[in-house]
Amino acid sequence: MRSDKLPEVLPGHIAFIMDGNGRWAKKRLLPRKAGHREGVKTMRKIVNACFDIGMRYVTVFAFSTENKNRPEDEVNSLFALMQEYFTEFLGEMLDNGIRITVMGDISYFPESLRNIISEAVASSKECTRGTLNIALNYGARDEMLRAVNAAVDGGKHITADELSSLLYTSDIPDPDLIVRTGGESRLSNFMLYQCAYSELIFTKILWPDLDIKKLYEILNEYAMRDRRFGKIKS
Ligand code: FPP
Repeated sequence: MRSDKLPEVLPGHIAFIMDGNGRWAKKRLLPRKAGHREGVKTMRKIVNACFDIGMRYVTVFAFSTENKNRPEDEVNSLFALMQEYFTEFLGEMLDNGIRITVMGDISYFPESLRNIISEAVASSKECTRGTLNIALNYGARDEMLRAVNAAVDGGKHITADELSSLLYTSDIPDPDLIVRTGGESRLSNFMLYQCAYSELIFTKILWPDLDIKKLYEILNEYAMRDRRFGKIKS
């Protein structure tokens, strides 16, 4: 199969762990924030490409619960980038019919950023062409803890479906494919409940270097996978 062609089978939901911005910058003797800035450009290009070729759900891991422990200067530059992104690209997402959802606890983000994120979520909520789900101050253990505590507060045993409905992704299907760039082969507290049957692809490419050709290669690798969901082949 030629990997520059789109395969017939595509993931309905693709999730990205966008790792490698810092190393991309370091290789060029640039400050880390220059890597994050390049990372946002890549995010915009890859997310648009995913929707253009027919995927319905794209999740990006933009800020983890652990990222807030980075030096203040880096955290602030990530906040500034988010502010810029949500302001600049919201119109593009709306024009393209893309709904924006956020998973994570943004309550400690600066107020101006929280307002702009809430505005993006609210103004795109009727969009139906696709969903861009952005993980912000997200951690899977934190997500599961919240769900379990909500269930305990409800005072009765719950079903698997009810547990799913208590997660941030209550109206988003589980990811078919999780891609991590940057060379590490781990999930780092990302969608640990939802990934039960996700295909995983780890690539050494640094996030800012991910391009459409490599995306197609990844999608071709996904299309070759034999997904059995714990069953045997009929
Ligand atoms: C990991 O690279 C990347 C991040 C911690 C942040 C990713 C965020 C973006 C691409 C921007 C998000 C912006 C919006 C608008 C949602 P790293 O810094 O850990 O890289 P390294 O492992 O090479 O040091």
